[in-house]
Amino acid sequence: MSRQIHSVRALEILDSRGTPTLRVFAQLDDGTIGAASVPSGASTGEHEAVELRDGDPHRYLGKGARKAVANVNAVIGPELHGFDWTEQARVDELLCQLDGTPNKGKLGANAILGVSQAIARAAAQSRGVPLYAYLGRPGARRLPVPMMNVMNGGKHADSSLDFQEFMIVPQGAPSFSEALRYGSETFQALKSLLHERGLSTGVGDEGGFAPALKSNEEACELIVAAITRAGYRPDEDIAIALDPAASSFFQDGAYSLSRSRQGNKSSREMIALYRAWLDRYPIVSLEDGLAENDWEGFQQLTAELGGRIQIVGDDILVTNPTYIRRAIAEKTCNAALIKLNQIGTVTETVEAIELCRDAGWGFVVSHRSGETEDGFIADFAVAMGGGQIKTGSLCRSERIAKYNRLLEIEAELGERAEYGKA
Ligand code: PGA
Ligand code: ZN
Repeated sequence: MSRQIHSVRALEILDSRGTPTLRVFAQLDDGTIGAASVPSGASTGEHEAVELRDGDPHRYLGKGARKAVANVNAVIGPELHGFDWTEQARVDELLCQLDGTPNKGKLGANAILGVSQAIARAAAQSRGVPLYAYLGRPGARRLPVPMMNVMNGGKHADSSLDFQEFMIVPQGAPSFSEALRYGSETFQALKSLLHERGLSTGVGDEGGFAPALKSNEEACELIVAAITRAGYRPDEDIAIALDPAASSFFQDGAYSLSRSRQGNKSSREMIALYRAWLDRYPIVSLEDGLAENDWEGFQQLTAELGGRIQIVGDDILVTNPTYIRRAIAEKTCNAALIKLNQIGTVTETVEAIELCRDAGWGFVVSHRSGETEDGFIADFAVAMGGGQIKTGSLCRSERIAKYNRLLEIEAELGERAEYGKA
């Protein structure tokens, strides 16, 4: 049986912000076609793999993706022709070699990731197995606990919140589908609470509300009230996770909580603030509580609060095995956010996850604020089995697409499905 890649080709499409991105189609010799679309972040880490943009101010404000498309069609395609599609690691290695830079800046991580994912999809289809089974270990069947971003601030909304993401975590639900229902009902309760207070119910980039609140604390208070109103117990049924994305308000050596008029804070003062919040709100996870270059602060944060909650590194680790290795050695965090496009290939992402597993760390498979209707990360989260996913609020189809795919997987697994953090 032929196991050769016939061709790959890309198309410039739009993401959920109306900004260009890529959809890549991989065709195998047996006629199978697998497709994948690439997401895009707004609060990107400094050391992320590079997203290639055209820079032509006359098209999409310089954000066109035609160069990346051309790199797929004219550079990567011919090289992959005839390559064995069963060897994902070798495909990804070839992609890295063709690029030749440490940050994928030549061909573009957007071009490379699209190809890497499209080949994985085509391979799964050709084998006649679902993507989560193809990418996963035998018996992959753990559905993730969702971290649902119901209140948006920072770079994702023009709200009064310095912190970027306030998420609900239905950790006490008996199954993924029930978790989704808990989350959706809480989202609706939050909407009615905001409405009653005369606050906006318009949503930000990830589908969370973006009202003009007086403080970051008020967001937590409203969420706890919404959990209760929906008939759930804060903490036991539904907890809170935060992603302040602190790099985005770190200026001139200080954490500037200017939107909420709380002034400038040092790392120590930020840690003290989080400690106080842990005593008041049912917080179980804190991502990017400090800035991406504040390794010392992060270490302190983990030393002080890491025994009580999950300390997740996103911008500081950028899904990069090099940074994850250092962070494990220095006890910088105790979990990693995992974004395929931060590193750029499926194989390197799996390698990052293996490091987390070996260190006893948690890991959270994540979307980007700019997304498409592609549900790849739903399958990927089940395949990797870490039991955590972050994929936005309970509205906007590019977010719901991932939840709906997880519902399909749960139904397919039937009795075998498990739910919860590993
Ligand atoms: P981004 O935000 O996709 O805009 O980078 C997501 C995050 O910070 O987790
Ligand atoms: Zn983040």
